[in-house]
Amino acid sequence: MTLKVGVIGGGQLARMMIPAAINLGLDIRVLAETEGMSAALAASEVGDYRDLDTVLAFAETVDVVTFDHEHVPQPVLRALVERGVEVHPGPDALQYAQDKIDMRARLTELGLPVPAWAAVETEDELQQFIDAHGGAAVVKTARGGYDGKGVRVVRAAHEATDWFTALAEDARGGALLAEELVDFSRELAQLVARRPSGDIAAWPVVETLQRDGVCVEVIAPAPASAPAADEHTDAGASTVEANGTAAARHGRHLASPASADLVERAEQLGRAIAEGLGVTGVLAVEIFEASDGRLLVNELAMRPHNSGHFSIDGSTTSQFEQHLRAVLDLPLGDTSPFAPWSVMVNILGGPQDGPLDSRYGAALAAEPTAKIHNYGKDPRPGRKVGHVTVTGDRLDDVLQRARAAAAHFA
Ligand SMILES: Nc1ncnc2c1ncn2[C@@H]1O[C@H](COP(=O)(O)OP(=O)(O)OP(=O)(O)O)[C@@H](O)[C@H]1O
Ligand SMILES: [Mg+2]
Repeated sequence: MTLKVGVIGGGQLARMMIPAAINLGLDIRVLAETEGMSAALAASEVGDYRDLDTVLAFAETVDVVTFDHEHVPQPVLRALVERGVEVHPGPDALQYAQDKIDMRARLTELGLPVPAWAAVETEDELQQFIDAHGGAAVVKTARGGYDGKGVRVVRAAHEATDWFTALAEDARGGALLAEELVDFSRELAQLVARRPSGDIAAWPVVETLQRDGVCVEVIAPAPASAPAADEHTDAGASTVEANGTAAARHGRHLASPASADLVERAEQLGRAIAEGLGVTGVLAVEIFEASDGRLLVNELAMRPHNSGHFSIDGSTTSQFEQHLRAVLDLPLGDTSPFAPWSVMVNILGGPQDGPLDSRYGAALAAEPTAKIHNYGKDPRPGRKVGHVTVTGDRLDDVLQRARAAAAHFA
């Protein structure tokens, strides 16, 4: 009997589960939002994930339901569970990936390290928070944000007037999340996977770089030290020489991986959250490494995540295979890296003059060691349309090759 996994949402995360499912001989079916999405190859249905009947009918065709995104409404999720559908992650866990205020409140209850925060309902409350936290705050909409949309640094409460107005017009009402502006030396991400029966597997912590709130680059494992202040400003440079020089100048060629202590602290944080929230499947914990060395949790994703794409080409078990194993409650795979370093660079926007594969002739010839991942999406400014991974022994060399390969698709 073939095991059947149903994925709600047809984006690139669902798409990248397909090869892993094929290799394991699983039947993977996707409920896509529209025709022609990234995961169209496995889309057995197109329909509205907010409609209970649509989702129920889809769930009846599979053994377990999982997700490409966290937007399926709680009432729909709970109705599935009541009818005996295996849903992973389940609604009790997923609520904390759906609402950043609920997430902050629960992590605080669990005694886990988070930035100072408050749920603010009025401009007065926000101004009080700003005044109490050094004259600045990061304001976030609790729901629906992604890629930095719904995140704003403010120094006065009126800079968030439009969001308070939108709240007032929203029938559900609610509050905005205010956070201290964290003084971080870098951002990290800890990926773990947890089975319903409780086993957990963790990948070594990675370093992530966000530009304008969007992930642009991931280094696995995280190097011992944070990048020099200007290193990443060279990340978009198009010539190999420029990048190579930049990396050498900043000594990344001498980079050693993060200390066992940092790896251990990040892993323990990931495990504590997976267990504390009852997460099943892959959990990504976005972390700030504060200037004083503390690790603070930024946000959570309960599905494969951009920070784990390196694992397709760089790890014995990819996050996509691991997610499928975990949601089916199968034994988890080994997470050892294939090479000392993996670097993943996102392809954002894509070429303006044609699809990604219009650049294959030049890109593949110039960068034979790069693994190119094309999500089959139409180019659009800032949109995640693909990524590149390079693995190897020397970080400066791997960084340079990955950036050079991605630059072919700009
Ligand atoms: N409290 C904070 N202090 C400093 N920087 C922050 C803070 N919160 C967020 N940021 C910056 O903004 C980025 C986006 O924030 P966050 O991850 O909360 O938003 P998002 O839009 O939900 O992101 P994602 O695309 O990961 O879902 C972070 O990666 C970080 O660079
Ligand atoms: Mg984020």
